[in-house]
Amino acid sequence: MSNQIFISQRVGSFKKKIRVASDKSISIRTILFASQAVGMSKISNLLESEDVLNTLKTVKKLGINFKKKKNIYIIEGFGLNNFKITKNTKIDAGNSGTLARLILGMLVKTKHKVKLIGDKSLSKRDFSRVLKPLRLLGVNVKSKKNLLPIEISGTEFLRPISYDENIGSAQVKSCIILAALNTPGITQINAKNSRNHTELMLKYLKYPIKIKKSNNYDKISIKGLHQFKSFNYKVPGDISSAAFFIVLTLLSEKSEMVIRNVNVNESRVGIITILNKMGAAIKLRNSVIYNGEKIADIHVKTNKNLKAINCPSKLNSAAIDEFLIIFLACAKAKGISRFKDLGEMNKKESKRLDLGVQFLKLIGIKVEKFGNNINIYGNPNLSLKGNFEIKNFLKDHRIFFLSCIAALTLGGNWIIHDKDSINTSFPDFLKILKKLGAQIY
Ligand code: S3P
Repeated sequence: MSNQIFISQRVGSFKKKIRVASDKSISIRTILFASQAVGMSKISNLLESEDVLNTLKTVKKLGINFKKKKNIYIIEGFGLNNFKITKNTKIDAGNSGTLARLILGMLVKTKHKVKLIGDKSLSKRDFSRVLKPLRLLGVNVKSKKNLLPIEISGTEFLRPISYDENIGSAQVKSCIILAALNTPGITQINAKNSRNHTELMLKYLKYPIKIKKSNNYDKISIKGLHQFKSFNYKVPGDISSAAFFIVLTLLSEKSEMVIRNVNVNESRVGIITILNKMGAAIKLRNSVIYNGEKIADIHVKTNKNLKAINCPSKLNSAAIDEFLIIFLACAKAKGISRFKDLGEMNKKESKRLDLGVQFLKLIGIKVEKFGNNINIYGNPNLSLKGNFEIKNFLKDHRIFFLSCIAALTLGGNWIIHDKDSINTSFPDFLKILKKLGAQIY
């Protein structure tokens, strides 16, 4: 089957209520926590994307059974560190940095060596960020140049650590928290702000975890070796998937959209804060707190008057997966948008900061890049003609989504390769676009 799509027409005006893919970070975490709980956990609305299916395959390899009944995954856990790990176990995390980093934290006591591998993109990503704290905990991890494959051999002699997490990485923080569950005593992490789903889930499970918030850091203490019971969880929508439809609506003609039931946890809503500072007037309605997470409907309308932003870098972590699509909004905004300290973007599924700059230049936008800072010269009259081809982006799903939204809002004839990258996080992406009236071949 062809793995490329063609778009040569802007989307017309629309007025729709939609639901987007379920939250990927939460889906992965519910499976991992269910695998450590005592009893049968029931998870509904789980995202059925490749990263999440690889998480299910991983816990299955580690001896955890699950079945699907209607829309519900039932996962049977036997308590902390009760994986059944056999000799020569190999785990393939595919494209998922989250699965790869978090599972290492759960294997800190494995008696048999486990080998962790991943796809081409994941095999280029740096693991020193988790290898360092794991080694301090006493775990034996082997890797060449801090890359996959990694071999992990557990220890019975884990020692609690006090760790400064200065990257602002939820994957690193969560890896240490998961390791801490198996470690006697109190593990402490002084963590630069990042998404906090792991902490909220542990609180919801009544696990002994304490969090003291200060300006840009959380001081987290975790008491090891406590069991927790199985749980039920309905996974909300993913703001990282909603992001593309928010910008599509802002940049389309006379359109309105409600995106229902999206996770709008404070640590994830950077895109809304940034776009609203640009004048977007996005509203959150029907907010509820569900298992510690805030969920709401997102209301957005066409906006022809976006203005540039001088983005404070303290918003970076809450928008880290959304910057590509934020850049597209900046391309159509009046004035020069400025972003600082975006180096982490280049540590994702592809070098997203470099590719984002390349993309903006391709669509005729002036961009200046100084190290990890960029300035985007917006052009509210931007309208494209001619041919555009997007390929060779390490099959990064978010570059594919960005390209589709650009094609549907700016004009031009587009060929976009690697359609199947959508299966990483948002398998229904094209289906929803077509329901809005988008012509995609
Ligand atoms: C994620 C954390 C973020 C994010 C990734 C998912 C998670 O990465 O980019 O898509 O679920 O913990 P970092 O923690 O490396 O910033």
